[in-house]
Amino acid sequence: MAKEKNIKNEQMEKIVAFCKRKGFVFPACEIYGGFANAYSYGPYGVELKNNIKQLWWKKFVDGREDMVGLDGPILLNSKLWEASGHLGGFNDAMIDCKECKMRYRADNLISEVLGKDLEGKLDEMTKTIQTEIKCPNCGKQNWTEARFFNMMFKTEMNSVEGPVYLRPETAGAIFVDFKNVIDSCRVKVPFGIGQIGKAFRNEIVARNFIFRVREFEQMEIEYFISPEAEWEAMFNNWLEAQEEFAKSLGAKAEDLKRYEHPKEKLSHYSRKTVDIEYNFPFGFAELFGLAHRGDFDLSQHQKFSGSDLTYFDSTTNKRYLPHVLEPTFGVDRAVLVALSAAYTEEDLGEGDIRVVMKFPPKLAPTKVAIFPLLKNKPELVAKAREIFADLKSEFKCEFDDNGNVGKRYRRQDEVGTPFCVTVDFDTLEKGEVTVRDRDTMKQDKVKVEDLKDWLKNKIS
Ligand code: GAP
Repeated sequence: MAKEKNIKNEQMEKIVAFCKRKGFVFPACEIYGGFANAYSYGPYGVELKNNIKQLWWKKFVDGREDMVGLDGPILLNSKLWEASGHLGGFNDAMIDCKECKMRYRADNLISEVLGKDLEGKLDEMTKTIQTEIKCPNCGKQNWTEARFFNMMFKTEMNSVEGPVYLRPETAGAIFVDFKNVIDSCRVKVPFGIGQIGKAFRNEIVARNFIFRVREFEQMEIEYFISPEAEWEAMFNNWLEAQEEFAKSLGAKAEDLKRYEHPKEKLSHYSRKTVDIEYNFPFGFAELFGLAHRGDFDLSQHQKFSGSDLTYFDSTTNKRYLPHVLEPTFGVDRAVLVALSAAYTEEDLGEGDIRVVMKFPPKLAPTKVAIFPLLKNKPELVAKAREIFADLKSEFKCEFDDNGNVGKRYRRQDEVGTPFCVTVDFDTLEKGEVTVRDRDTMKQDKVKVEDLKDWLKNKIS
């Protein structure tokens, strides 16, 4: 697996600065000096993120007969996390520099500095760091012991005894509602439950912009299959569907690769786990994942809750605990793919650099911008407003009458708007508008009455 590196490179820095400047992603709480590497999605970022989530829901929930959706709570009964193993084992190893107080994730530090993989071996990690590694921040070699640290955020709740945890993944909420779904809906194994929502992990080091944060969103599926199913073919179909989804974000085939976890590193219950890695500006790192989890989750929840979670299969007349394939997707990483794949600088000559976000039209935060050619011609402004009012019932639109049309095109290119519609005197005389394409910069004349269908066709 490509170990995540924290390489400051020009491309990443450009994207981070661009995201702030153009209202995609802001550092959170900046007026208070920032907060723990957290980020807010700005006006364009939230549209992009929502479009990604909608695309996912359409493809994996609405678009399939064997899938249903769910929206479970973030705060759940703590027994769930006992059963899932998160309370006992959801740990990362951390180590502190005693001189400058900088904190590191021990396994990442070792793999970055020495290229070794000692994940999980606490004693060895301590010895290796204490004897072979100087603090990358202050250059001294005076370390604490490496120690495990549970990554769940703890809180408390009125009327509930003991601590309550912010969910570290969305999956748990699906398993605890498995019985409700089979009892209330006409689902038959094989079928899946999909969910989109926030998850929280007290990461030792949040880094690489929105790639690794402490509060993030996941889009997860638990796909329930018979223990006797030919699971390999299903597993491959899911992998292909995940890669297809990554491509629909703008990822090129050569920027995607699969990493299969070696058998000796798999959890005891998993038959196979594959990460889908993307070539982010800081190198290849995990984007999505797929795991065969056997019946571990349902059998643990059955044991800890005392509820019968078996399923009666009416085609085979057998009762069993289904096995699970779990395709999991990080929303924020998907956004980072869309941003890094789309960011383009085009040299138009004579020092003129056009920055253009080449988002697939379906993902673009704004689909259409409408301009009156001249701001001081009320008849053009009124016609442009009429067209804007009509189009905005169908697409996310922007109205812009500020500056010359060339500048307005550039503003829209920067936020990735695929089409700009200019209302000029031909519109008043012949009922035609000029539609300019973001990528080719070519202009087409389109009849006003055909405009909505023309755009719909291009955007879908
Ligand atoms: N239920 C399985 C699960 O949670 P995971 O590999 O730990 O598996 C799934 O997480 C996905 O969630 C990852 O592939 C990644 O896209 C995203 N993810 C995990 N930790 C993250 C973090 N700290 N910041 C942003 N995204 C994260």
